[in-house]
Amino acid sequence: MTAPDSRIKFVETCTSTNDLAHELLPTDSACAIVAAHQSKGRGRLGRAWVSEKNQGLYLSWRCTPPIPPAQGGALPLVAAVAIHQLCDDLGIDSILKWPNDVLVHGKKLAGILCEARIHGDHWHAVIGVGLNLAPPTEGWSQNLNATSIHEEIGVVVDRMLLASRLIDQLENVLRRFKVNGMSWLIAQWTLRGPQLGTVFAHNGRTGSYEGLTEEGAIRLRIDGSIAIVTAGDVELV
Ligand code: BTN
Repeated sequence: MTAPDSRIKFVETCTSTNDLAHELLPTDSACAIVAAHQSKGRGRLGRAWVSEKNQGLYLSWRCTPPIPPAQGGALPLVAAVAIHQLCDDLGIDSILKWPNDVLVHGKKLAGILCEARIHGDHWHAVIGVGLNLAPPTEGWSQNLNATSIHEEIGVVVDRMLLASRLIDQLENVLRRFKVNGMSWLIAQWTLRGPQLGTVFAHNGRTGSYEGLTEEGAIRLRIDGSIAIVTAGDVELV
């Protein structure tokens, strides 16, 4: 049996692991909360993240990143690259979708919700990751285009081992980001992101993907000119 990972605090249930990570974890070291179930799991843009017991990895990693809070927009990219590495290790061929999704065969495997809190002259971030381990017992609802590790590779993974490996990857990507900076991170994301020219919809218009800006926004060519989308979602067409 493997020893428990001292970086992780496990709870059976909570409202949201992001809430617990803000409240419970110490400020001075990077560590994580993992829950078997969340009663009020949160997604981006005010959406809910339905968190049925044991069907997903619900993890929130709290850290103090080596960047000013104004550059916190880099964190979803850090998390996405880390999750992609984790998928590679599992033999799952994933692709990143701006800003915060990890897709497999066009279906969502994982989502990321990053939050920050500032305390005087220091701050902390919480990187929340929801990664589908298996489909909901009633099956995916029709409006969700989602998949899970079990559906992709037919394996029931050990949740705590997966959590440990994800934290290893998060630490690794954050460390390399600290050394190499934003252009390195953008390059890493780009390697794992969509092909140039992929068509996305944004606010009712469609445009072809032209890469990310140095700040991590997405560039879309719409009607012959470049639009830079800094917030919200883009949808694969
Ligand atoms: C999204 O795709 O909209 C982001 C989903 C993030 C879900 C995770 S599950 C662990 C953590 N706790 C939450 O309440 N949300 C994040």
